[in-house]
Amino acid sequence: MFESIKLSELDRTNCGILRKATSTRPYVWQIEESQVRAVVKDFSRNGFFYRNIVGRFLVWRESKAYKRLEEVKNVPTLYRTIGGIALVLEAIDGKDMGNRAAKNMEFSENFFHEIREIVKEVHRHGVVHCDLKAAPNTLVDNEGHPHIIDWAACMCYEEFRIFPLNLIYKRFIKDDLLSILKLQLKRAPGTVSQEDADMLHTRSRTERIIRAIRNTLRVFLQRIA
Ligand SMILES: Nc1ncnc2c1ncn2[C@@H]1O[C@H](COP(=O)(O)OP(=O)(O)OP(=O)(O)O)[C@@H](O)[C@H]1O
Ligand SMILES: [Mg+2]
Repeated sequence: MFESIKLSELDRTNCGILRKATSTRPYVWQIEESQVRAVVKDFSRNGFFYRNIVGRFLVWRESKAYKRLEEVKNVPTLYRTIGGIALVLEAIDGKDMGNRAAKNMEFSENFFHEIREIVKEVHRHGVVHCDLKAAPNTLVDNEGHPHIIDWAACMCYEEFRIFPLNLIYKRFIKDDLLSILKLQLKRAPGTVSQEDADMLHTRSRTERIIRAIRNTLRVFLQRIA
């Protein structure tokens, strides 16, 4: 499917632009073939170095995740990659949670329960997302169900199998679930239990302390470097 696409012609064929490229982000196009819609994440128009080094790396990472998660429901299907610099993905009809229209939507407790179930299934397949805090990475379809996209920052279990990396991997798993809770607290605060809200609060205090130590260390290292 979508075998005949030419990246260089995407702006001339009648497809839509979901997002224009910036110096560090790809174009996101919307295309259609035989009444099937797809989204193309396309680094071909980014600068030479970004396209060939970062772009290729991100497309490789993301395609690896999509292939692994082929069987996970509510993760879009990867139709194909093009020249190592673009991904062609199943288009989800709806909007992302960062979208202005989605900002006024009301989200139920069940919606976040569904996200957790998807993400736990993803974890069982040996992948952690690592960027669920960003609302635009969760799409809401027209029936109100969530879909998870943007796997460029993901980590795979095998890369972190050996001690002490396995501890970091466990932490990433926790962070994925905490990111969902943070999103829930922001978008549907009434559905978060007091216990979970308190836990997040205590955790952000701990995070602030860790960040302060890290910043002091950085200044110290810069001085001695
Ligand atoms: N499969 C899809 N179906 C529908 N819309 C999509 C799909 N993939 C991406 N989009 C839209 O394009 C936007 C950007 O996609 P994505 O997050 O994958 O790109 P990105 O370059 O990694 O973005 P960012 O750097 O902002 O996280 C999404 O927020 C969403 O609005
Ligand atoms: Mg994104």
